[in-house]
Parts: sequence; C-alpha cells; structure tokens
Amino acid sequence: MKPLTLLAALAATVISCSALAAEPIIIKFSHVVAQDTPKGKAAEHFKKRAEELTKGRVKVEVYANSTLFKDKEELEALQLGAVQMLAPSLAKFGPLGVKEFEVFDLPYMFDNYEGLHRVTEGPIGRRMLNSLERRGITGLAFWDNGFKVFSSNKPINSVSDFKGQKMRIQSSKVLDAQMRAIGVLPQVMAFSEVYQALQTGVVDGTENPPSNLFTQKMHEVQKFVRVSNHGYLGYAVITNKKFWDGLPADVRAQLERAMKESTTYANQIAKKDNDDALDAVRKSGRSHVFVPSAQEQVSMKRALVNVHEKMDDRVGVDLVQAIYKETGFDPSKL
Ligand code: LMR
Repeated sequence: MKPLTLLAALAATVISCSALAAEPIIIKFSHVVAQDTPKGKAAEHFKKRAEELTKGRVKVEVYANSTLFKDKEELEALQLGAVQMLAPSLAKFGPLGVKEFEVFDLPYMFDNYEGLHRVTEGPIGRRMLNSLERRGITGLAFWDNGFKVFSSNKPINSVSDFKGQKMRIQSSKVLDAQMRAIGVLPQVMAFSEVYQALQTGVVDGTENPPSNLFTQKMHEVQKFVRVSNHGYLGYAVITNKKFWDGLPADVRAQLERAMKESTTYANQIAKKDNDDALDAVRKSGRSHVFVPSAQEQVSMKRALVNVHEKMDDRVGVDLVQAIYKETGFDPSKL
C-alpha cells in the first residue's frame, strides 16, 4: 500500500472506532399503561436520570401503552433480548414459572402501602427478585401502583350482585380464584384489549387501580365503580440478566442509582395519582362511584379471604405466612 493510502485507511479506522465508542447503549423499556400513570411517569423518570447520570452513554427509549409489545409478548421479547427493560404487574409473572409473585394478588393481602413496603423493600422482596435470576432475568425493583376497584356495567353493590358477571382479569391463577369465589366468570385478556371488551360487552367489568381505569378511559364504558380496595396491583422492574451483566461496571452502577431514584419517585406519586384519578372519574359523571360501608367491606372480605387458603400451595404457604407476619394480617380474625 502506498504511504498516502495507508494513512487514509488508518484515519478511516480511527474515525470509525471513535464513532463506535460514542455509540450509546440503547435500553428499550416497554410497558402497557399510559404515560400519565405511576408506572409511565416512573419509566420517564428513569430515562431522564439514566441518561443524565451516564452522560449520554445510555439512551433509554420508553414505549408506553403497548405500542411495542402487549403483555405476554413483552416477556418473550425480554428473554429474547428484543427489549431490555420491563415493569410487568406482579400478576403477570406466572408464564415465567415464578408463581410466588401471585401472592400479591391475594385479596386483602395488603391494607396499605406501609405494610406492602415492609415486604417489597425488605428481605422478602429481595428474595423474590433474586428468584428471577434462574430464568435469565434480573429483578431491579418493585414499583407501586395501587389498590384495585371493581367496575362493571351491571350493579356491583352487594356481593351477590357479582354472581354470573363476566370480568376481565390479568393472567393470574390467584385472580381467577378470587373472581370465582364470588361467582364471577373470569376472562384473561391483554390490558390493551380491555377498553374495547368493556365497550362491546365481551365482558361486563374488570378490576384495576383508578389510575389505570381513568387513563384508559374505562370509566367511560363502565356504569358502576366500587371502591373496594380489595387487592393490590404493583410492578417488578426487570431486565435481561445477560444484558445487565454485560454492561460496563460503571454504567451499571449509574443505572442502579437511576433505578433507586425512580423507585423512590414511583412510590411517592402512586397514592396521589390514584386518589386524583378516582376524583377525576367521579367528576366525569360517566360512572356511578360507590364506596362500600364498613359492613359491606366485611361481607366482601369474608367472601374472598378463603382464596388465601385455596391458593397457598400455589404461591407458597411459607411466603404467605411470612407476609402475614410483616403486615399483621390475620384471616381468622374477620
Ligand atoms: C393490567 O393488565 O390490568 C395491568 O397489569 C396493567 C398495568 O401494567 O398496570
């Protein structure tokens, strides 16, 4: 090679190497809810902090509202490396073979965020996240959403009203058992399909925290909302283990910091977001919002609490007992 050509070739190599070095690491973060929800906002918060802290070495692309993948597909996509981060609800881990996450679906398992955080922020939560490793998944954090309300186009004032109604559930066997305990016919369906199913009468009703009900406009196609707070819905933020372990150590440390900050943020906004969403549903005048009396709450609790015993083999008796210990819940005292 002539000296000049050699020089040009060397220069080209240097340029392409530095271009390569500047290429950011892309994290595709896919989720199924609206941006204006606790999860949607926390994902944006993570994006902002991750990009700031890594000084642009990482770029986070957030895909909200099932625009990239729907519920079941997103878990497959994570395992295949088509996305790098997800925050599925805890009710959706069954297909991964980790049934114990459905413990969070047990009706009335948690009364408030304080008891819940003793579990999610403590050794039980850590153990559960670690259990994902053997599936090739790294569990990064738990993010709050909130306590669920029932909604329907048929009356849901008394426990007996529920009998024979069709309701959409997430893919959790515990939720299936919960619905059957009050005579409801549960139907598993992706979140992105719920609005239309309610609108067209494929199902009569569903359950979700108010933030999801409102941002998906489900209240516009539901006549009744019962503020039952009968169960919790929250998330585990997860990433592909191979991807995570392969990151440069300093980048991973900054991402861990961004995740910690986003978790604090998510858990700070979740309650207010849900309270505001319920107010907005009330103000819209589209559904009748019904708050059950203390007596009516007890009737619903009595009807649903036997699900704990029925499902403790599935989610793990020891886990159920360990959570009771943290929260002080005693099913025999109802
Ligand atoms: C649902 O499917 O109802 C929820 O899991 C949606 C979500 O991610 O909050």
